[in-house]
Amino acid sequence: EKPDGGLFTQQRLLVVANRLPVSAVRRGEESWSLEVSGGGLVSALLGVKEVEAKWIGWAGVNVPDEPGQMALTKALAEKRCIPVFLDEEIVHQYYNGYCNNILWPLFHYLGLPQEERLATTRCFQSQFAAYKKANQMFADVVNQHYEEGDVVWCHDYHLMFLPKCLKERNRNMKVGWFLHTPFPSSEIHRTLPSRSELLRAVLAADLVGFHTYDYARHFVSACTRIMGLEGTPEGVEDNGRLTRVAAFPIGIDSDRFIHALQSTQVQEHIKELKERFAGRKVMLGVDRLDMIKGIPQKILAFEKFLEENQYWRDKVVLLQIAVPTRTDVPEYQKLTSQVHEIVGRINGRFGTLTTVPIHHLDRSLDFHALCALYAVTDIALVTSLRDGMNLVSYEFVACQDAKRGVLILSEFAGAAQSLGAGAILVNPWNITEVAASIGEALNMSAEEREKRHLHNFLHVTTHTAQEWAETFVSELNDTVVEAQQRIRQ
Ligand code: G6P
Repeated sequence: EKPDGGLFTQQRLLVVANRLPVSAVRRGEESWSLEVSGGGLVSALLGVKEVEAKWIGWAGVNVPDEPGQMALTKALAEKRCIPVFLDEEIVHQYYNGYCNNILWPLFHYLGLPQEERLATTRCFQSQFAAYKKANQMFADVVNQHYEEGDVVWCHDYHLMFLPKCLKERNRNMKVGWFLHTPFPSSEIHRTLPSRSELLRAVLAADLVGFHTYDYARHFVSACTRIMGLEGTPEGVEDNGRLTRVAAFPIGIDSDRFIHALQSTQVQEHIKELKERFAGRKVMLGVDRLDMIKGIPQKILAFEKFLEENQYWRDKVVLLQIAVPTRTDVPEYQKLTSQVHEIVGRINGRFGTLTTVPIHHLDRSLDFHALCALYAVTDIALVTSLRDGMNLVSYEFVACQDAKRGVLILSEFAGAAQSLGAGAILVNPWNITEVAASIGEALNMSAEEREKRHLHNFLHVTTHTAQEWAETFVSELNDTVVEAQQRIRQ
């Protein structure tokens, strides 16, 4: 067993991500409350037991006044967080615009809807300028807090310019960058007007990491095909300088979930849920309400299943937790009404005076309620159209030691590569296939469920967030040492 904190007790780490692990809500002029932020990045990084890490990021709120900024900085310091203050205009252009309306759909292979295509092309340059400006603002805060020898770990598509900003100022800084989304095929990346500038900025890092080998390969291909750089087994070479590129599949803090299941809070929730849904099989979806998650496709597949299987109509219920996200982006607003419409139609069609087939919740659940829900679930449905990894599938598996339920998992989620052998893999675009997989899951024998669960449980409990972070940081240290040796030779 590793000593507590392992590598990290000797190493100061600055984690830089657009979103801090806590988001701030203003309660008064100088008073703030802090709520845990959503999303896979935060949930994985919170699973890393790290005493010396500091987070630098945006608290998800506009704070134009100095007293407010000072009070929030103080409140965040207790959580080892350092805020980057972004004004409304920057948030609009950088976060809503370039990050979430351009990069996010592109990296997930989802084109823009026809009516937005031209508008997006028009505002591209101003949004890209705001993106670069925002990245420089993050760099300025890093520079204020950096001490020699620190490891600076930059995260995600919001901060592709950050490695370049940091290295320009201090080329000895140890800089790693990790992408939490897929990196698409080079043929997709090449449609981006700023394609080369972005790649070159990322290549300023010492180590570049992805969830899967495929994403890493796509990135290297983009560098070689679009920019004519040299791809090597270690990474990408530009004028004799090597940027190491590799896959580091993320995980969760599985112990946190397993221990929580024993708590009275979770046990009470479990009891209530079991009574509430007695006599029915529980199917569960937990997603941010995002177009990449394939929520409409999932619900339509469920409708098809009900249509074709009269026997199951009052014996199965789908609980869909859809956590609101990026609500200022028009695409997300449209998705919310689309999902509500479909859910309403299906409940009208198959509901009875006492039961409805779909319970759809537009909100997040607290940790204990979520664990209980995972534990009572018979079938988890993860139907992402694309997903970097998808940690909901990991969390479900961690909570299923008693029940041994079935995971239906999209082949387009990174997790398909690690949990594929235990899950039923589906193409979420094919609702006939997904509907059939629901039937297969409901009829699966106990032995088969046991075998599949054990396979996945072993993976989830051995490939943890802690191991992911330690591997990345130690590889980053080694990469820097090797580069220094090469220069001396
Ligand atoms: C994904 C991204 C994260 C992001 C999260 C939540 O997991 O990879 O970087 O933080 O979604 O999205 P939000 O826009 O609310 O930060």
